[in-house]
Amino acid sequence: MTIRKANSSDIIEIVEIHMNRFHNFFLTSLGSSFLRIFYKAFLKSPGILLVLEDEGEVKGFVAGTRDNRGFYKKIVKNNFLSFFLIGIKLLFAKPASLLRVGYKIIKSDKNSIIFAELLSIASKKNKRGYGKLLLKGFESEVNNYNPDLLPVALTTDYDENEKAVRFYRDSGYVVLEVFESFRGRKMYRFIKYFNNI
Ligand SMILES: CC(C)(COP(=O)(O)OP(=O)(O)OC[C@H]1O[C@@H](n2cnc3c(N)ncnc32)[C@H](O)[C@@H]1OP(=O)(O)O)[C@@H](O)C(=O)NCCC(=O)NCCS
Repeated sequence: MTIRKANSSDIIEIVEIHMNRFHNFFLTSLGSSFLRIFYKAFLKSPGILLVLEDEGEVKGFVAGTRDNRGFYKKIVKNNFLSFFLIGIKLLFAKPASLLRVGYKIIKSDKNSIIFAELLSIASKKNKRGYGKLLLKGFESEVNNYNPDLLPVALTTDYDENEKAVRFYRDSGYVVLEVFESFRGRKMYRFIKYFNNI
């Protein structure tokens, strides 16, 4: 099993894994065209996009940012034309979802704590060790260029999500806060500090 930086030829596979593993998630509802633009944006700094290969194929991915400050604004700015065109498409097909994207962008700027952020992680099959390796790979990638030793944070559902919650706790993450996201969806924010390494 190896972890490597993703490149543009991995995007289709990453989107397929996302579509299969993130049912009932808002981003999934925006469709694979949106997700292709979304994940492609992580190929540029401060984005991080890694894939795990096993038996000669991509079995999972992890996406995030080295620094949460203004991240969504940066990726939209860096990929303005693609997001503008998909935004027009969404405006006609799913106008309410555009509002939610805007809410997410504005909300993400309001965090008072600075951290590296894991935004998406998925493996094709559970319990093969892919998830833990991807998480470790993400943390190493953050720590390779992390002079300020920023912690890594992530959000995950509070309800009916015991397995993922255990996965993060077992990997050294602690609850920073419980908060309500869009339409009152209860979420955990987990954090892991690296000050002692
Ligand atoms: C969360 C996820 C990435 C874990 O990946 P994984 O490949 O199963 O991880 P590992 O094989 O390294 O297993 C790590 C631990 O997580 C547990 N786990 C986490 N989510 C699980 C799930 N949905 N089903 C079964 N086990 C799960 C495993 O039991 C395992 O525990 P163990 O070490 O005590 O055996 C994977 O379940 C997944 O892709 N889920 C769908 C997408 C998702 O929910 N992502 C996280 C959203 S915040």
